[in-house]
Amino acid sequence: MKKKVLITGCAGFIGSKLAEKLLEIKKFKIYGIDNLNDYYDKKLKKKRLSNLDYKSNFKFYKLDLNNKKLLSKNFKRNKYDYVINLAAQAGVRYSITNPRKYFDSNLSGYFNILEECRLNKVKFLFFASSSSVYGDQKKMPLKETMNTDTPKSFYAATKKSNEIMSYSYSKIYKMNIVGLRFFTVYGPYGRPDMTPFSFVKNFYKKLPIKIFSFGKHKRDFTYIDDAVITVVDLFTTLIGKKHKSFYEVYNIAKGKSEKLSDYIKYLEYELKSKFKKIYIKEQLGDVKNTFADTNKIRKIIKYKSKVNLKSGVSKFVSWYKKYYNN
Ligand SMILES: NC(=O)c1ccc[n+]([C@@H]2O[C@H](COP(=O)([O-])OP(=O)(O)OC[C@H]3O[C@@H](n4cnc5c(N)ncnc54)[C@H](O)[C@@H]3O)[C@@H](O)[C@H]2O)c1
Repeated sequence: MKKKVLITGCAGFIGSKLAEKLLEIKKFKIYGIDNLNDYYDKKLKKKRLSNLDYKSNFKFYKLDLNNKKLLSKNFKRNKYDYVINLAAQAGVRYSITNPRKYFDSNLSGYFNILEECRLNKVKFLFFASSSSVYGDQKKMPLKETMNTDTPKSFYAATKKSNEIMSYSYSKIYKMNIVGLRFFTVYGPYGRPDMTPFSFVKNFYKKLPIKIFSFGKHKRDFTYIDDAVITVVDLFTTLIGKKHKSFYEVYNIAKGKSEKLSDYIKYLEYELKSKFKKIYIKEQLGDVKNTFADTNKIRKIIKYKSKVNLKSGVSKFVSWYKKYYNN
């Protein structure tokens, strides 16, 4: 019998790609939950869902993590073996003006997931954390053992809280839980609120792009397929072993820090034109640099991110042009 895997946030950027990759393995029946909220273009979420094979091994439920009653029913009926929680209110900057949305989905909603996993004896829970939990650190690269007590945004605070909530559930109820600290994931079907999407969109609208921190930021840009294959590898490795009670967090990243200015150059090369640029000071909530140490995950899995920034940007621009007929 195929093992049952629930992916929450499965209409999202990472969730939809993860569902696609897990379906390819053909060992799992994949269930997806998403509330299809309007944080960004719903059409893109629906298109991502339509790319998944509805007929075989995939079942979708439009459901909010905060609908406790329906969520409980759903867990009872489907008896999931594994849960991967990616549903969340994402975005650092939006959390400055809309903190309650983050409280509702990321804290209250995630608590419901923890409870259902506990009550239904789910064998393994994976959840999305974020590189933002590191805040601004003096030392690079960022290691999982570093102190993460000073988040710069409420978004980061909710992700750090998810880690602490999960740790306590794992210890108290002997559950197996893993936190995935994603680093700036980009690529086809990406999030419109993030670059490169927002930059390319402005380019075609002939609008300037805003470059924060005067372009001095550095980021560990992680191509979507690399991020997802890393998670699939980690997932299949860990569920294949016996654990009494397991709790760990892992950086999910390329493991390379690149200048925002280089990233913009690659985009301009692909677009065969220069952006109109507005340089702006650092934004409240933004961290200065990210650069992941990936040694911890390498001790368990073999996969190493393959796609470099130049070719990742090229793949994104090709997808964007085709998808939006530019
Ligand atoms: N993309 C990145 O670079 C990145 C970096 C760090 C962490 N993360 C985290 O990874 C996860 C996935 O990110 P993404 O980029 O795919 O974001 P996304 O916004 O594309 O996907 C999240 C999905 O969750 C759904 N959702 C939100 N609140 C919900 C709720 N209360 N109930 C049900 N569904 C809900 C949304 O409709 C959306 O489809 C998120 O938890 C995010 O915080 C992403």
